Amino acid sequence: MNAHDNELTAWDRDHFFHPSTHMGQHARGESPNRIVTGGEGCTIVDRDGRRSLDAFAGLYCVNVGYGRTEIAEAISRQAHELAYYHAYVGHGSEVAIRLAKMIVERAPAHMSRVYFGLSGSDANETNIKLVWYYNNVRGRPQKKKIISRWRGYHGSGVMTGSLTGLDLFHKAFDLPLAPILHTQAPYYFRRPDLDMSEEDFSSFCAAELEALIEREGADTIAAFIGEPLLGTGGIVPPPAGYWEKIQAVLARHDILLIADEVVTGFGRLGTMFGSEHYGLKPDLITIAKGLTSAYAPLSGSIVSKDIWDVLVQGSDAMGPIGHGWTYSAHPLCAAAGVANLALIDELGLVDNAREVGAYLRGALTDALAGHRNVGEVRGDGLLAAVEFVADKDKRVFFDAEHRIGPKVAAALAARGVIGRAMPQGDILGFAPPLCLTKEEADTIVAAATGAVREVLG
Ligand SMILES: Cc1ncc(COP(=O)(O)O)c(C=O)c1O
Repeated sequence: MNAHDNELTAWDRDHFFHPSTHMGQHARGESPNRIVTGGEGCTIVDRDGRRSLDAFAGLYCVNVGYGRTEIAEAISRQAHELAYYHAYVGHGSEVAIRLAKMIVERAPAHMSRVYFGLSGSDANETNIKLVWYYNNVRGRPQKKKIISRWRGYHGSGVMTGSLTGLDLFHKAFDLPLAPILHTQAPYYFRRPDLDMSEEDFSSFCAAELEALIEREGADTIAAFIGEPLLGTGGIVPPPAGYWEKIQAVLARHDILLIADEVVTGFGRLGTMFGSEHYGLKPDLITIAKGLTSAYAPLSGSIVSKDIWDVLVQGSDAMGPIGHGWTYSAHPLCAAAGVANLALIDELGLVDNAREVGAYLRGALTDALAGHRNVGEVRGDGLLAAVEFVADKDKRVFFDAEHRIGPKVAAALAARGVIGRAMPQGDILGFAPPLCLTKEEADTIVAAATGAVREVLG
């Protein structure tokens, strides 16, 4: 390591406040740091010259893969032409208008308009405000609570961290805030009664939701938010019949549905949207990550025609909507979005996600499902997870202090493949770029098999 590298490490330890990091260990130099310098396709390169197959696409966001010059050039062209103008009071840029049209064309047919933000968290924040505004316009000011699921992930702001149903994101932050309620996680492997069938478990989830609504009073509940497939909470596809039963409950009680498609939007499940994949008819859809493949920060709230009509009544009655960010519809990010969505089509990445995703999950199942400490191999599209258990027959989980998930993820990284130890439970997650090849899928499976053997025998 040369003097410059040493200096960079020292600055990193001394000045950089990293998200989701053990602050003390990092500052004291007790945990490794990794400074990433480049990438191409599914591979990243770090300062030490290590090449790794990034089987989590950053934070499941670099969907088109690294090093796409088409997107870099689109951002550069836009920066030279017009780096910024705001979108307030009817202003905007050509590229943002184009992107809004491209998104609505790809979204479920009943969707209508896109409000642009910068992160999945702020887009969910926007969606909550829109739902509240909607009910105020409709003369139902008491209908404001939002129901989320335990193990859902919707961001880490004050409101969105409350929606998130994972302990880590609440602990010592005084969250969740009062208007947010949580219901049963749609996690069949962790069902309370092992004798329940998947359909029965879905009915149980729907009954739990309905009981919560009745306890609170349907006239106090505005919306239900859920990821089509539970992501950060464990990469768990919904149990059979789940969304149909949940949507029937919501319809009975006049409760809106927000589909958080920050992970599933734009192809990850082998369909353009998860809503289409699992038969959801949402009132609002949250998008981010795959919208630009993270080449620039951009998110969006897509609103349905019905919601839009009520929002319009609101501004006819009260004037312009009091909601906006300086960087809403930022032209550089919109340019990244237009180029990214075009590339997804050109490269056929939605189909590739479906085909190579099925191949990856099949190979992971063949290699690992028989291991005595593998409770389940699951996923859908290009999302996969391996969940570890201490006793498979009795479904006994490991104590968190054994840190089995993080140890397997570390052993995997040592083999040149990056997966993610999901934050709650011993779960190794995979969400590679949608351009993954079958050969790369084989590399992931070989490394995962070696890592599991090293940690669990
Ligand atoms: C489903 C879902 N919603 C929202 C978010 C929050 O997005 P961001 O980290 O861009 O704020 C995430 C991030 O992982 C997510 O997975």
